[in-house]
Amino acid sequence: MAIALQLPGLAFAALILAAATSASSADALVTFVFGDSLTEVGNNNYMQYSLAKSNYPWYGVDYAGGQATGRFTNGRTIGDIISEKLGISSPPPYLSLSQNDDALLKGVNYASGGAGILNDTGLYFIQRLSFDDQINNFATTTQKIKSKIGEVAANKLCNEATYFIGIGSNDYVNNFLQPFLQDGQQYTHDEFMELLISTFDLQLSRLYQLGARKMIIHDLGPLGCIPSQRVKSKKGQCLTRVNQWIQEFNYKAQNLVASLNGRLPNAKLIFADTYPAVLDLIDNPTTYGFKISNTSCCKVDSNIGGLCLPNSKMCSNRSEYVFWDAFHPTDKANAVLAEKLFSSLFSAALSPAPAPLP
Ligand SMILES: *[C@@H]1O[C@H](CO)[C@@H](O)[C@H](O)[C@H]1NC(C)=O
Ligand SMILES: *[C@@H]1O[C@H](CO)[C@@H](O)[C@H](O)[C@H]1NC(C)=O
Ligand SMILES: *[C@@H]1O[C@H](CO)[C@@H](O)[C@H](O)[C@H]1NC(C)=O
Repeated sequence: MAIALQLPGLAFAALILAAATSASSADALVTFVFGDSLTEVGNNNYMQYSLAKSNYPWYGVDYAGGQATGRFTNGRTIGDIISEKLGISSPPPYLSLSQNDDALLKGVNYASGGAGILNDTGLYFIQRLSFDDQINNFATTTQKIKSKIGEVAANKLCNEATYFIGIGSNDYVNNFLQPFLQDGQQYTHDEFMELLISTFDLQLSRLYQLGARKMIIHDLGPLGCIPSQRVKSKKGQCLTRVNQWIQEFNYKAQNLVASLNGRLPNAKLIFADTYPAVLDLIDNPTTYGFKISNTSCCKVDSNIGGLCLPNSKMCSNRSEYVFWDAFHPTDKANAVLAEKLFSSLFSAALSPAPAPLP
């Protein structure tokens, strides 16, 4: 596969492209993407009543064409950039495809802004595709693929595809950390985390049953340092307790991934541990060519919603900012993080498979 040979992360590329080289008719790597606003590429635009939308200026101002696409950033998502690195086009939003679209065979993006592991996360956005909804849509996709190319080829395609999964941030930001919602009052953090992890376990197991084998599970970033959380502190500093909770969640998620690798035959789940890299970017912005990481380019940190609205005043140089709005990184920050994710996957591919838990 020519694409693999051009990549610096050869071992990682070899891992996920191994299937493509062995497949008789493979012309490209197939990827299926699941997640929230960090990976959405426009599904929510197809939901009339969804309040989790970004299809207005100034979103997309630095995207090819300069138009809003439904991405929650000024330019590309991390997923877009990873796709570029893999030499494939970024998979289209699921809701943009017709049910018998040939594009289904090449990869689909199911991600939806506001989505979480739990169904009731992001409730106030009225419409969004929860992780369960996204898995249901993938189940529909597998049926459509079967009717197109037959069961055997469909199973092979699904087994050999790479699954990118980044979910859970909204279970904190738009659920547990919202004082007016039930979950934050009803559960201690330990209880809430157990609920998240046990639900995530069932969800990843279901994806496996539907044919997923190579899954890259993205951990959560230091959410205590995003502008919408910093404004809750006295002096604009990171919320330590939130970051501790996130690290506990990441630790449990990493153990879950190891446990699933032990339990599910031929499963190759990789835990992408990027929290330290994201924190380093936020703590040392100048090291990476940025100037400001403690407030958003659009200056909407404390606005309701925290999104960059058409009447927001953008910063004069978007390349100086790590954060675009109160939640989401800029295109330039995504480029740095994608590079880091790519190399973390590279080292994950080199390190021995995690031992199953007792
Ligand atoms: C969440 O919603 C999905 C899709 O609508 C459904 O399949 C699932 O059973 C629900 N989960 C819970 C715990 O209610
Ligand atoms: C961000 O950090 C700079 C430099 O330390 C400081 O002057 C500024 O007040 C901070 N801004 C916010 C919104 O906390
Ligand atoms: C914008 O900021 C970047 C990063 O600090 C810098 O390299 C670039 O020259 C700046 N552009 C302008 C027009 O000032």
